[in-house]
Amino acid sequence: MSGDRIVIAHVSDLHFGGYAELRQIEALETFLPTLGLDATVIAGDLSQRARHGEFQAAHAFANRLRPHAPLLIVPGNHDIEWWKSPLDLLGRERKYRKYSRYFGNLTPVLEIPGAIIVGALSSYGVAMGSLTWNLRDVAVKGHLPASETDRVAAIFADAPRTAARVLVFHHNVLPGATSRRMGLARWKSAHRRLVATGADVVLCGHDHHEGAGQVGGALAVSTSGTHSSRTRGGRASVFNLVTIDSSAVHIQHFRWEPSTRQFQRSDAFAFARAGPPKVTVSVAGGDQGL
Ligand SMILES: [Fe+2]
Ligand SMILES: [Fe+2]
Repeated sequence: MSGDRIVIAHVSDLHFGGYAELRQIEALETFLPTLGLDATVIAGDLSQRARHGEFQAAHAFANRLRPHAPLLIVPGNHDIEWWKSPLDLLGRERKYRKYSRYFGNLTPVLEIPGAIIVGALSSYGVAMGSLTWNLRDVAVKGHLPASETDRVAAIFADAPRTAARVLVFHHNVLPGATSRRMGLARWKSAHRRLVATGADVVLCGHDHHEGAGQVGGALAVSTSGTHSSRTRGGRASVFNLVTIDSSAVHIQHFRWEPSTRQFQRSDAFAFARAGPPKVTVSVAGGDQGL
């Protein structure tokens, strides 16, 4: 915690395998530790095909970041072997088994001074909740069941009143700026339930195009880009630095500059934070809500 601020590096969609941009990966390893981080978040799609070698490279990357700041990782749609149990016909566990071997819990929770960071699961592969009428969505789209948003809301309700509440999952909450696609099936219901969790900010990825926005005028959303060659329209890759203070969530984009092989500070956004519940203090003449 830097003063009364929480600083989180938010990266996603590394896609270790044939598409990973190794110069960017190496730059992240040296640059992120210089940013005064309270935590690092990887919002899924560590691999391209959920292969052992891809996960092993991602595991080594995570181990190089972990000494510099606590790290939270959630799986993306590329990280699960959905074909081993489509529609969960052979049970749910086997499609996550390989990911969990390397990264453990599918829904990790990280408590640090001044913040609680909660991972949620939006990646289910070919599952009833993720299916839409668009065949392109099969095994790509995610969803957020009510059981997940209820679980997250309960964790946030038990957290210290002043703690920043950060929710992490893979699929983009807002439409992609280029793709215009939503990451989540049944997103209107998801939006309502996300606001009700009490989160200050959602950290997500999946669209391969960075973004910063808000749901319901209350919940900030940080969407990180990709560090693979599969960016939207050949755009430069972007990761986000998310800073939470008592009044706002700040989302700073860092854009990859191939000529200097460095990440450069780029667009920045700030969203008012609803903040902890207001307290009532006793003053002469009666109580005054502050
Ligand atoms: Fe991805
Ligand atoms: Fe994805």
